[in-house]
Amino acid sequence: RDCLLSRGLGDVYKRQHVIWVGANDRRLNLFENLFPIPRGVSYNAYLIKDEKNALMDTVDASASEQFIENVAYALNGGKLDYLVVQHMEPDHCANIQRILELYPETKVVGNVKTMQMISQFFDADLEGRQVVVKEGDTLELGNHTLHFVMAPMVHWPEVMVSYEQTEKVLFSADAFGKFGAVGTDEPWPEEARRYFINIVGKYGAPVQTLLKKAAALDIATICPLHGPVLQGDLTPYLHLYNTWSSYQPETRGVFIAYASIYGNTKAAALLLAEELKSRGVTVEIADLSRTDLAQAVAKAFQYSQMVCAAPSYDGGVFPVMADFLHHLKSKSYQNRTVALIENGSWAPSAARTMTAQLEEMKAITLLSGTVTVRAALKDADRTALAALADALAQ
Ligand code: FEO
Repeated sequence: RDCLLSRGLGDVYKRQHVIWVGANDRRLNLFENLFPIPRGVSYNAYLIKDEKNALMDTVDASASEQFIENVAYALNGGKLDYLVVQHMEPDHCANIQRILELYPETKVVGNVKTMQMISQFFDADLEGRQVVVKEGDTLELGNHTLHFVMAPMVHWPEVMVSYEQTEKVLFSADAFGKFGAVGTDEPWPEEARRYFINIVGKYGAPVQTLLKKAAALDIATICPLHGPVLQGDLTPYLHLYNTWSSYQPETRGVFIAYASIYGNTKAAALLLAEELKSRGVTVEIADLSRTDLAQAVAKAFQYSQMVCAAPSYDGGVFPVMADFLHHLKSKSYQNRTVALIENGSWAPSAARTMTAQLEEMKAITLLSGTVTVRAALKDADRTALAALADALAQ
């Protein structure tokens, strides 16, 4: 059987008495049945070994067997005293009942909301097996002490994080998580951004609250529920989380999101991109019919400016653009400058429709000079696109 620990891969994270007992999932296509994960995802869980042993969370049902084997291997015959439940979303909580059945002496540690959700998800009898904690409570394990910090809506209401003072480890729940199996060789920001913006992005204010609490802690290591353990200089990670959760742009430049039916709107988007590049502007461009929507949403958040280019359709805007803007609103997209390109051969309606959607968002500056293409690009359109590039490059 494929046991990460027994095959030596437990060294993914083994710091003195904290051992990673999670699992990689490289077979799932869509995380939350919504987000493509071409390089998989990890469900992290950790075992703290001390006079009392504490398991930090469980994993998704798809990884149960490997997880159970990892826990047993890491315990090495020892007793499991506590199961700390930081988050009740099924990708982390699916094995709670199984652990409680396999280890009858284990007590489950969580807050009032955690316990309530456990009873919603499971039929486990928790009588005499609950340790209910609140903000500031501690759990002594021997040489290690866990401090509990409530983090509601990062990303569900029952979420809490745990700080272990001896090894200065923050068990951060979904925060600082990332798509991609543990061991994937790729830069952290791209897939951490796509994960954060699409999953936690709506909850910027609660993340800001958590970051303020974290600033008071001396943190050497962050152990999230997805992706790699973070060590060394943590400043870049904290800086990006502050940027993302405060809805500030990360990169000065333009993201061009376009939709095109026969290629004419695409031609306008590509020409604008070239005009911008010739003015020294950083540009990324995406075809909304061909790009993962979650990646397009993350890119919109990354850049300081966005151009939406789309054909008119059924008296409104081409559906993939309407869907994209709907997703941006639901993730609280704000504080950005946006310009529009529309196409319409007889009754252009795309710009009007996109404007109505953008007006529902906070602090969006809509640039004047919307370009209206009336089918294929003409010289007047090329001139208008150059003028739009001038305005965006200022
Ligand atoms: Fe990874 Fe909100 O669960």
